[in-house]
Amino acid sequence: MTSAVTDQIREHHQQLCEQLHFHNYRYHTLDAPKISDAEYDQLMQRLLQLEREYPALITPTSPSQRVGSAPLDKFAPAIHGEPMLSLENAFNRDDLIAFDARIKRFLATSADIEYLCEPKLDGVAVALTYETGVLVRAATRGDGTTGEDITQNVRTIRSVPLQLQNDFPDLVEVRGEIYIDLADFRQLNQQRRDAGKAPFANPRNLAAGSLRQLDPRLTATRPLKISCYGIGKLVGQPPSTQQQLLDDLTRWGLQVLLTETRRAANISAVINCYQQLQERRELLVYEIDGMVVKVNHRDLQAELGIKSRTPRWAIACKFPPRQAETVLESVRLQVGRTGAVTPVANLIPVNVGGVNVSSASLHNWDEIERLDVHIGDAVIVERAGDVIPAVVRVIKEKRTGTEQIIPRPTHCPACSSPLVQEDDEVVPRCQGIDCPARLKESLKHFCSRGGMDIQGMGDRYVDQLLQLQPVTSIADLYRLKKEDLFQFERMGDKLADNLLAAIENSKNRPLANLIHALGIRHVGSHTARLLAQQFGSLDKLAGADYDTLIAIHEIGPQVAGSIVNFFAAEKNRALLADLTELGIAPPAENCQPTGKLLEGKTIVLTGSLERFTRKEGEDLVMQQGGRASGSVSSKTDYVIAGPGAGSKLDKARSLGVTVLTEDEFLELITAGENP
Ligand code: IVH
Repeated sequence: MTSAVTDQIREHHQQLCEQLHFHNYRYHTLDAPKISDAEYDQLMQRLLQLEREYPALITPTSPSQRVGSAPLDKFAPAIHGEPMLSLENAFNRDDLIAFDARIKRFLATSADIEYLCEPKLDGVAVALTYETGVLVRAATRGDGTTGEDITQNVRTIRSVPLQLQNDFPDLVEVRGEIYIDLADFRQLNQQRRDAGKAPFANPRNLAAGSLRQLDPRLTATRPLKISCYGIGKLVGQPPSTQQQLLDDLTRWGLQVLLTETRRAANISAVINCYQQLQERRELLVYEIDGMVVKVNHRDLQAELGIKSRTPRWAIACKFPPRQAETVLESVRLQVGRTGAVTPVANLIPVNVGGVNVSSASLHNWDEIERLDVHIGDAVIVERAGDVIPAVVRVIKEKRTGTEQIIPRPTHCPACSSPLVQEDDEVVPRCQGIDCPARLKESLKHFCSRGGMDIQGMGDRYVDQLLQLQPVTSIADLYRLKKEDLFQFERMGDKLADNLLAAIENSKNRPLANLIHALGIRHVGSHTARLLAQQFGSLDKLAGADYDTLIAIHEIGPQVAGSIVNFFAAEKNRALLADLTELGIAPPAENCQPTGKLLEGKTIVLTGSLERFTRKEGEDLVMQQGGRASGSVSSKTDYVIAGPGAGSKLDKARSLGVTVLTEDEFLELITAGENP
């Protein structure tokens, strides 16, 4: 039975709704919140509580029905101030020489042409319009004349300044590429695999997909970055060279990949740069698919002009694709630590862009059906950012009729328990709690850098350990004796001592590492840290119920459910007891606020701090109920800047965020005044 709604309650509900709408607008539309995230969450909790008590109050327009500002129905068209051109392609040295010859012919000169060589990021082209230094619009390229307005999404990218710095022009259309770092791409794909979702094919697809979300809040969760390389319409002082243009963009606070940009005095130097960049390609933390060569002097660029839709003064010199043809010999099944069973192709070894490849990911059976791939097929494999290469295409013309279907598995290849595939997942999962394959992967994860960081206990030893010992749980690692280790291949006295010491040392890793190491589904390193800060001990976390977990900012229903399920399982309870008994005792996190001076405030520490370490500073913030964040936004309350502070300090100033020295900060939290 629901309680009767009095006028007073209705009015209270109305007020809460109005407040939430207002703050929602400030936060999501204006990006200028008037209250902290925590205060907003409190208001929302009050509304939810009221609506739980009086469900009759819920209407489709209540903020509870639409957390955050409403997603768009579609993107509005955006006409570019100047067309966004594309580039002609070169594929080798000869193409570059021909490009240089064309330019000299056009300019009727035999003198050397100076070029600027820039990395060609493989992402999504965007145009950012800044009016009086303020970001007013972000648009995709579209057909070059009209793109789509993706301003709300681009505003969520932290490296896109909302306000330019220094001597910015009255109006400028900045051109750049939005991309995702390889490490972030791999991590996101791993998370998707763990969650039973199809991984993204390459970083470019992930960046494009993230930008085309109609819900900006989803875009905000993606680690997008930008690199700027050009301008369209400009009302202001025009730069004289491309190099100067990049320097201008940098000075205005925009991100430019200057470290990989080279000036070349002539086309021979360009060819050298091209070869060098190709060698460096494997070392870069982002994916590039070539090098863009531009005539450096902008007056020459103007003279050369445009031919249909491509400029005569620039060319994209592409790298050879990281693809190769080979034959899929057989398929093996891999069981991950979460039980996900994925098909992996065993290939006839082939060199793909300098790397020898003998296996490739097939992702899942939907993907196998989409590719229509069979055992014995000639296939194209590609290295596209992911650690494991992927089969991208079948060469059907080469079929002989002897190819065989890749059957869907029904039972776990390691423990034979039946596989279960949930409706919203693309992979089947092994449910066997004693599955040796799951244990092996859990152990690898437990020992890894982000986990307990047991140095020396690499994948090879984990494999051997499981072959040699009757290991049944992660805890058995801590029961290993020296004589057990001697059974390992090439294990000497010293190495065994080192390994035992590494295992022993890991007992005191921070709580966040231990939580991450346990491999709870949906709990990555960031969430683990959050949980460690919030609960302070594994026991407290294990005892937390769903409602307590969901009340934590950043913890959603899926994560909360997964944590509760993990600690409800008897096997995991036994593991916790074992770990405690074996002396795995992460130092208690200094997490419980002892004061309220920074309650609800977001604080960023930057520069080389002298009065305390970064960790100590963050602890001080948390002790006073504040939140330490890594990046500055208009939601930041204070930036604490030590010597040598750079872009974060600049950003804080441009956004009008209060900047404190370390001493001022210490004074603030010891003075007893609520700021
Ligand atoms: S210049 C007229 N420079 O490659 C100038 N493009 O087709 C046109 N790209 O759409 C682009 N890095 O998305 C330029 N340093 C760079 C670039 C770059 C990546 C992309 C851009 C463009 C495509 C060329």
